[in-house]
Amino acid sequence: MAKGPTPQPGILEIELYVGGASTVEGVANVIKLSSNENPWGPSDKAIEAFQRAAHELHRYPSTDHASLRAAIGEVHGLDPNRIICGAGSDEIITFLCQAYAGPGDEVIHTEHGFSMYRISALAAGAKPVEVPEHDRVVDVDAILAAVTKKTRLVFIANPANPTGTMVGKKELARLAGALPAHVVLVLDGAYAEFVDGFDGGASLVNRFPNVVMTRTFSKIYGLGGLRIGWGYARREVIDVLNRLRGPFNLSSAQLAAAEAAVRDRDHVARCHGENARMRTWLAGALAVHGVPSDTSSANFLLARFGSRAEAEACDAFLKSEGVIVRRVAGYKLPDCLRITVGDEASCRRVAHLIGLFKGNGAEGGGDDD
Ligand SMILES: Cc1ncc(COP(=O)(O)O)c(C=O)c1O
Repeated sequence: MAKGPTPQPGILEIELYVGGASTVEGVANVIKLSSNENPWGPSDKAIEAFQRAAHELHRYPSTDHASLRAAIGEVHGLDPNRIICGAGSDEIITFLCQAYAGPGDEVIHTEHGFSMYRISALAAGAKPVEVPEHDRVVDVDAILAAVTKKTRLVFIANPANPTGTMVGKKELARLAGALPAHVVLVLDGAYAEFVDGFDGGASLVNRFPNVVMTRTFSKIYGLGGLRIGWGYARREVIDVLNRLRGPFNLSSAQLAAAEAAVRDRDHVARCHGENARMRTWLAGALAVHGVPSDTSSANFLLARFGSRAEAEACDAFLKSEGVIVRRVAGYKLPDCLRITVGDEASCRRVAHLIGLFKGNGAEGGGDDD
């Protein structure tokens, strides 16, 4: 048989992204805590805007996303001309790799870093370079030691996924200041809204010409199913990324829902508060059962078990009881499970089951408030 077409170098090295499972065979009502989704769902105002958009489906959407960018700019105090919107922040990450890295170039990500950095680097023909972390925290010195003349991008999620840990403001500024001008530092703020008073890295974007921030509507805004994200950078960078962006990369329904969502600050505040409350409770409950976790700044906990076998057995037990969490062996954390902070009932259920798995009957843990 004749040989088929050959893909570009790097493409066949890409391992397909594995999303969080959402079904268990034979179980009707599962509790899904595997994809860091918002258990309280999106703002009612976002749902209404989405429904209204249904009446205009014959129209092409805006190509410049001006109205959504203006709303984001207003809420975050940023210049809308320095914002780009994409189909999830994944798309912004893809644009960054396409724009700034290619064959012969290196893209740095960290040991337990989000898998899309590696995938997007390979898709652009570049070489992903993995840098060690220190006790599941991004290590700025290790990153700086890995930078070469070929480095084009450094990706850091802050808070990080799947660890939930953060790099402090000073350390981030030190990294931004020490990176050579030819390296773009991408601060992925997918979980930034869960952190009190954190700007996601916007102030560093303002200070350093080679820093970019990415953000998403998939987490605190509860719009993961709709696929909307955005990036903030200096104008020249946004101009470059816009050249790669399809003119209609976001639908009118996406744009309308995202704009309503970002303007509904009460909903964001409610979700932020509930997440913080349940995160503290869940971490306490797990600790009582002998399952430690690092202090998380996001909407999930990285629960650490004694071994890979124990983590796998706990995962299987939870599944058999209809609770889906995330195995993170692919993130070099084989003895851990990532558990999204759910609503109160889900948190109590998962804590209770882990207690049973560990041989403790009672739920234990945090205050019963
Ligand atoms: C660290 C991080 N960055 C980016 C994303 C991508 O988010 P989205 O493409 O839904 O905006 C995720 C999603 O899980 C994430 O965890």
